[in-house]
This record gives sequence, structure tokens and C-alpha cells, in this order.
Amino acid sequence: MSIAVSEKSNVFLLSTKSTSYAFGMDDRGLVRHLYWGKKLLSADELELPSLTEVSTNDPVFEITPEEFPVHGGLRYKEHCLKATFADGTRELVYQYCGYDVEETEGREELVLHLKDEHYAFFMDLHYRLYPQYDLMERSVVLSNQTEDPIQIEKLHSAQFHIPYENLNFSNVHGHWGAEQQRFVQKVSYGKIVIENRRGISTHNHNPYFVLDRDATETAGEVYFGALRLSGNFSGVVEQTQYGETLVQMGLNDHDCLLELKPGETFAAPAILCGYSDSGFETMSHNLHRFALDHILRKDCRPVLYNSWEATEFHVNSRDQINLARKAAELGAELFVLDDGWFGERHSIQNGLGDWYVNEGKFPNGLEELIDVVKELGMKFGIWVEPEMVNPKAQLYQQHPDWIYHYETRVSDTSRVQYVLNVTKPEVRDFIYNMLDDLLTRYDIDYIKWDANRPISQTGPQRDVWYKHIQTIYEVVTELKKKHPDVLFEACASGGGRIDYGILGIFDDFWTSDNTDAYDRLYIQDAYSRIYPIKAMRAWVTDCPNFLSGRVIPLTFRYHSAMMGSLGVGCNILKFTPEEVELSQRMIRQYKEIRPIIQEGVFYRLDNPSANQYFLYEYLKGGQGVLFAFLPQSKVGHRGTTIRLRGLEEETIYVLHTAEGDLEKSGAYLMHHGLPLKLGGDYASTVIRFEKKQ
Ligand code: GLA
Repeated sequence: MSIAVSEKSNVFLLSTKSTSYAFGMDDRGLVRHLYWGKKLLSADELELPSLTEVSTNDPVFEITPEEFPVHGGLRYKEHCLKATFADGTRELVYQYCGYDVEETEGREELVLHLKDEHYAFFMDLHYRLYPQYDLMERSVVLSNQTEDPIQIEKLHSAQFHIPYENLNFSNVHGHWGAEQQRFVQKVSYGKIVIENRRGISTHNHNPYFVLDRDATETAGEVYFGALRLSGNFSGVVEQTQYGETLVQMGLNDHDCLLELKPGETFAAPAILCGYSDSGFETMSHNLHRFALDHILRKDCRPVLYNSWEATEFHVNSRDQINLARKAAELGAELFVLDDGWFGERHSIQNGLGDWYVNEGKFPNGLEELIDVVKELGMKFGIWVEPEMVNPKAQLYQQHPDWIYHYETRVSDTSRVQYVLNVTKPEVRDFIYNMLDDLLTRYDIDYIKWDANRPISQTGPQRDVWYKHIQTIYEVVTELKKKHPDVLFEACASGGGRIDYGILGIFDDFWTSDNTDAYDRLYIQDAYSRIYPIKAMRAWVTDCPNFLSGRVIPLTFRYHSAMMGSLGVGCNILKFTPEEVELSQRMIRQYKEIRPIIQEGVFYRLDNPSANQYFLYEYLKGGQGVLFAFLPQSKVGHRGTTIRLRGLEEETIYVLHTAEGDLEKSGAYLMHHGLPLKLGGDYASTVIRFEKKQ
């Protein structure tokens, strides 16, 4: 039983395989948080201490950790919900009205019913348990049963309490070409806010929190949560004056107002959360496994070739066919035609919105290229940016009112494009029909869906920040129903659209336009903390790298990209015979290890050396792969010792090293470790291993 209720003390104890979460109702009806951590045995042991205010300036609400604090009364810390009723009342007072335990697909979910003391306004707190993953999903469903609309000014999906100060907060920062730059900062008095105000998701921060007590990869306490929402989110971490840290996340209230009409309900995006007492690795493993089993589409992702960096906007049938032939020769399984194939799209100046095939570039239609791609045994993918329009495009000339804009203002452009108001039914239908037509007319297996600018000038509606992305989720979900075999890739100027909201709606995710193999090691390391490896697209591209100017050997570039879902984005027509041969070898090897990479258990290994090695391990069943990178040799070319993890101590493993096969026990490999010395700069190696038969 994952949900235990002590009717005597009104305490709820929610347990997973090795964690527990508890709260209870006190005599004044407050839903008070009690515990989050390692598994407890009985709800009966938990007590709700009675509350007395410390002083008139420290009212009980300030001292009390509430599960879902609302705006109202003597509450001055962060609250999760602020609403205005039709009569102007801007305060909420909730009452506890009972609970239900629901069972869906064999999983237990506790629903706690709260109601406003005066108005027929209901707040149901949901706690869904995933015991074997040590995860829980929290959210709230609001319901307006009054006769009048209710304005929702702020809605965070849940609040969590950690009974410690001086925690470390980690997330990522970044910008275009530099996504997923991990940072860690001490939480002290005051607040940390991370957010996105761009409508489309952002490169700046990611909607999750990780709070730890000086944890390492394999030891120490970590509290984490990932919001299942793309677009405008906000998250607040607040170390209060009373020895605790609270954290909450949800819709960003910036310029946002939701109206709940009489009879309407609204479900806030869920937060997938968990606790680990064994460091960040357990957090990653639980999230990855859950995402693989329950969120992401099954099967491994294909090795793709994408022509963007090779041809940019200058696409034409002949060149793409040549690239496709070469891509097939290398071993690619999917050929993706990127930007430039439609309308008058010769640069960023025009074309977006005019989704017809450019006849000058494809005189025999797209079919000619698609036929060749199919004959070569590859799947065919195509780039679109459906939420956008160029001012010069016919679509905009015909429908100037389809974009977000104010009549009295000059409309903003960014990358010479406007954002379509997809919340208008006619615009939504246009996008759906355009893609449905494209997928019906042509034999397309993969859509790369891009979004290259943020939203602005949203017009009078203040709910579009939320509705925009919901519409995109709906359109893609509907398209997938009609075209179930098509894979959808989410991209937003590189890695600007990855979060637990879009995961599963889309199937593949572009990690970053930064394809520099060295920069990618950092990006991928940070990405892997929260997101599963299968959702991490990584390409090998040409050198000097267009962003960094760095020149890195092709082997290192392959190895770095093989850590995720492998793709190639080079101008392969310029490949030397040696580069072709090396690519063929690498892609062949990748296909062999792909299930271990994309569906295995991923370990970020320690590097004890003074030389900066990057060491990673993947394990699936009795098979594994080790990746070792040494971007730059220093300190006398010192070697390292790779201590593997997750092996069976008494089992003998056979490691296929460059020097020949090696047989060692799991105990040796995990405790003593495997000595490894790479030399020179941009050195790398991949070592496969398996249990000895
Ligand atoms: C964005 C994407 C790139 C490419 C271009 C095309 O920048 O991140 O991969 O598709 O758009 O314009």
C-alpha cells in the first residue's frame, strides 16, 4: 500500500520503494507538510505539532510549512495560488473536505479536496505515486462552481518543504549556442527565482529544481522536481526565517491572467518529483527510467543525416540527392531536409508560412528526393517552423491579423519573423491542415519542428502565454494520431525546447546548435542529469566548428555525438575516403551499442586524475559501454582510473580495449578500477564490455 492514512491523526503517508512523503490536516484545517525523505514505516508515528505564533510579527502561517499555501490572511511567504472573485475579494480561505484514493493503470493517486470557505471554488491537490521509480507527481485542479468568472492571477502547481538551510540549488543557464550550462549556488536568506517569459521555451533556464545537501554523484541528499510544462514557467526557492527552505514551480504569473468561467476546471501542469539519499545519480536514474518507460516513445532513434550545416538555405534536389546517396553510404537511416525547401525561402528574409515546395529548387517536386531516399533504404524527414511567418510571406499578406500584435504598435520582428497567434482557431487549423497535407501527400517519416524566436506583443489576451504551447501540444498529438509512425523532433533555435512538458509529445529533441564536440561534453553532462539519453540528439559536424572555430579530430567528434542519439551534419560530399571509412566504422559501431546507449542506465563516472578526463558508462542487461575523453593533455600526460558502477561484484566481465580483451571481476572494476591513459589533445576511446558467458 503506497498511501497510508492515519484517520486518528489525520496524517497521510505516501510511500514509494524507498522514500516517503507526509502531510496532515491540523485542527484549523491547514494542510501541513510533515516529511519528505527516506521511507518511513507508519503514518501513526507522525504528529502534527500544535501551532503557536512566535510573536505578532511571526504568525502561524509563516512558521507552518503548508502543502499548498494560498494568497490570503497573514501569509507573507511565497504562495501557490492567488485568485480574484467577481465581487473583488482577492483572498482565498481553504477548508479541507475529504480525500479520495484513485487507482489508474495500477497506480495510486491521492486527491485531497479543498474548498474555499465562502465561494464554490474547489482546489483538488493530486499526488500520484510511481513507487518503483521513487517518484511522485503533484498537481492541482481548480474548479469554479460559482455563477461568476474567477480570475487566476498566480498558479504554482505545488510547494515543497525541505527542513534545512544552506542547501545547494542547481539548474542550467545559457543562451543560443550555449544551452545547458550547469550552475550551482548556495541558497541563503532571500529568494532564488528562475523563469521563462518568452512564450516559446528558453535557452536561459530549465523548468526543474535540484536542491542538495552537499551531495555528490553517489552520496548525499537530493530533492528534485521537474515541471511538465513548456513555455512560461517560474520557480522560486525561498529560505525562510524559520530554518527551512521551500520551493515551488508552475505557470509564470508574468503578464498572465487565466479566467475560469462558471463550471470550468483547470489542471495545473504536474511536477514530477523525488528524493534521493544517494546523490545525483539516483535522481538521474529514476527520472531516466520513468521517462523511458512511461513518457518517451518506444524503440531506438535512427541515425540521422541533416543537411543544414552542409547547405543551409541553398537546398536543391540535385545536391540533396547527392547528400542522401553519401549519407546512405555512411550508414545513416534517416535523411532530414532542413530549412529552405519551401516558398521563397532563400534566406531568413522570406518563406515562413508559405509551405509549398519551391519549384526552382525542386523542379520535379519533393517526390524525386524522397524516392531516392527511400530507394536508398532511409527514412525521410523534413524541417518546418509552423508557428512563424515572415512579413514578406504570402500568408502574412493574406492574414496580417494572424500574428500576435497590437494595432497601435509596430510589430516586432526577430530573425525577420512574426509569431502566429496559434490560439486563434483558424490559425491552429491552418497549421494542422498544412502538416496533415504534407504528411499525407509525401512519404515523410520525421518532422523537425523548429521555433526560432520568442513571443511578444500578445494582444489583449493574457492567457496566451499558457495557451500557445497547449495548442502546439494538441496539434502534434492530433497529427500523431493520424500519422502514428511519424517521429516529431522539437527544436527551438537549437536546444530551446526541452522540458518534461514536451517530452513524449515530441519524440526527438535537438540539444543545441552548438555541435562543437568539446562544448557538447559539458552540455550533454548537464542535460543527462534530468533528461534521458534517448532524448539527446547529437550530431557530428565539420571543423573548424562554425561556432567555436575549434578543430577536433573526427574520432573525438563521433565519440562525443555517440553519447546521445547519433546524427551527422557534415558536408559529407567533401569527405575524404578515410573520413568515409571512419564514419562507416563509427556508425556501424553505434548501431551495435545503440540500445545500451539509448535505453541503458547512464553513469557519470568520477575522474580521480589531475588530467581532466570525462568518463561515462552505459549499462544494459549484461552489456556495457565506457566512454573516455581527454580534451587536453596536461600534468605530464597523467592517466586515470575508471571505477565502474552498477556491475555485479562476482561476475567476470570481458572488456574489449584497444590493447586487446581483458577479463576482470565486477568487484575489481568497481573498486580497484580500470587504469586508462590517453595522450595528446582530443583523445577519446570507447570500450565495450559484457558479462563473460
Ligand atoms: C535553427 C535550428 C537549426 C536549423 C535552423 C534552420 O537555428 O536550430 O538546426 O534548423 O534553425 O533555419
